[in-house]
Amino acid sequence: MGLTHDPNFHKLQDWYTAHALNLNMRHMFEADQERFNKFSLSLKTDDGDILLDYSKNLITEEVMKMLVDLFRSVDGFGCRWLFGSLWVNMTSFIVGALDLQGRAVLHVALRNRSNTPIMVDGKDVMPEVNKVLEKMKGFCHRVRSGEWKGYTGKAITDVVNVGIGGSDLGPLMVTEALKPYSKGGPRVWFVSNIDGTHIAKTLAQLNAETTLFIIASKTFTTQETITNAESAKAWFLEHAKDKAAVAKHFVALSTNAPKVKDFGIDTENMFEFWDWVGGRFSLWSAIGMSIALHIGFDNFEKLLSGAHWMDNHFRTAPLDKNAPVLLALLGIWYINFFHAETHAMLPYDQYMHRFTAYFQQGDMESNGKYITNHGSRVNYHTGPIVWGEPGTNGQHAFYQLIHQGKNRYIMLEILLANFLAQTEALMRGKTTEEARKELEASGQSGEALEKILPHKVFQGNRPTNSIIFKKLTPYTLGALIAMYEHKIFIQGVMWEINSFDQWGVELGKQLAKKIESELKDTTEVHSHDSSTNGLMNFLKKNFA
Ligand code: F6P
Repeated sequence: MGLTHDPNFHKLQDWYTAHALNLNMRHMFEADQERFNKFSLSLKTDDGDILLDYSKNLITEEVMKMLVDLFRSVDGFGCRWLFGSLWVNMTSFIVGALDLQGRAVLHVALRNRSNTPIMVDGKDVMPEVNKVLEKMKGFCHRVRSGEWKGYTGKAITDVVNVGIGGSDLGPLMVTEALKPYSKGGPRVWFVSNIDGTHIAKTLAQLNAETTLFIIASKTFTTQETITNAESAKAWFLEHAKDKAAVAKHFVALSTNAPKVKDFGIDTENMFEFWDWVGGRFSLWSAIGMSIALHIGFDNFEKLLSGAHWMDNHFRTAPLDKNAPVLLALLGIWYINFFHAETHAMLPYDQYMHRFTAYFQQGDMESNGKYITNHGSRVNYHTGPIVWGEPGTNGQHAFYQLIHQGKNRYIMLEILLANFLAQTEALMRGKTTEEARKELEASGQSGEALEKILPHKVFQGNRPTNSIIFKKLTPYTLGALIAMYEHKIFIQGVMWEINSFDQWGVELGKQLAKKIESELKDTTEVHSHDSSTNGLMNFLKKNFA
């Protein structure tokens, strides 16, 4: 098995066994005034610096060097070079090596602002990418300026994105994060859940005359999306009472023109993307239409430019100065040596409140796998459970466990725009001596003090990465998203798993189809296990 057979893995394992439990961050900071300088990175983007401070980790220079060596030797084919000009000549290699479904993986082409040719099956995809961007630009302009009119001649005030997974989470996260840039744009709404309440509650607040529906689905076969889209169309027609009006109020973002047509949307009103764009990497494509409408096309382009900056950084920066690589390696350190199982992402910025949810799909759908590219089962841990909440809300909810919980190894990443968080407390903790002094100073003593004392002690030594930027701009957000995308990719390479498929979600979809047809009548079901039969029969009886 690649990773665990690598001699560098064994070196790290030996080091871990001999030293890891004695690593004490407080002592390491006291002993080395240069620690921050050694383990931080200032990314000089065209829109200000992004600081990555990874000094509050259970690492030494030797560990980082061994991790970089491990990556170098596992990454025999030089995966970073796939993200650039060399991709041109290596498409067939990528198809074979990275996507077992036989597709190229090229979301970087969508934000390739330098426009260098990127080839798929011998054809440069950039002209098509640029053509769709131009079409989006024209459409955005017409909607935002009021030139695009609804069926009664009124301008569009509200846009509803109907989609799910990658066709929902990215645009939702970005439009929330960049709300301050939405002046002059329509309001945006997102409907994803097949539970009818989601669409009903949304439609109740809208006026059909001024609402534009964006049906966002790569495949245009996703049950939740198509069901919600049909409901939206029925609602719209109840008001408009004219099928011809649909053309003014429905557009599609998809790779599947025939299905779009079947649904009743003119393919003139379809914004295309391609099979080589994975759902969870699609916000850079036409799937980003709601973003472009909300914040304006210029700002959408800035989002692409920020991501492009990060693509270039990822491709060209030395490994030990490379933000996505360092984040990936730190993850490997905790997941494969400390056996951390979860990764908390804690953005201290309310506008970023969907960032963690977005990367739950980004990370878990990509790397939540145990079968390798060679078809064997891994003998090491792979993708972590990603979780988190924004800002100080988390402090009032789950920080207790982060500080004093038994499960010591959670990877923590804190993204700050305006607020400096608790990383020092997590690192330093509070010793028994310090806690005792504090209690004495507050007038406590004797038995009462001894009783409360253990509760006031914090072990500390809990690692965090801090990512700080001056302002959450479209450019910076683009760079941050791309940074995590590449981190996920690197980890997939190291674990020898394909980060670009998602067979795991298929089983549920398959079973749901069978169950859906069985729920259609009132006949008792006996064909499943007793629990599933019991649940279905209860539903049949009570929700007929
Ligand atoms: O079920 C998961 C998934 O396949 C995601 O990967 C994808 O983002 C989502 O469904 C939606 O798919 P589509 O855009 O084809 O509707």
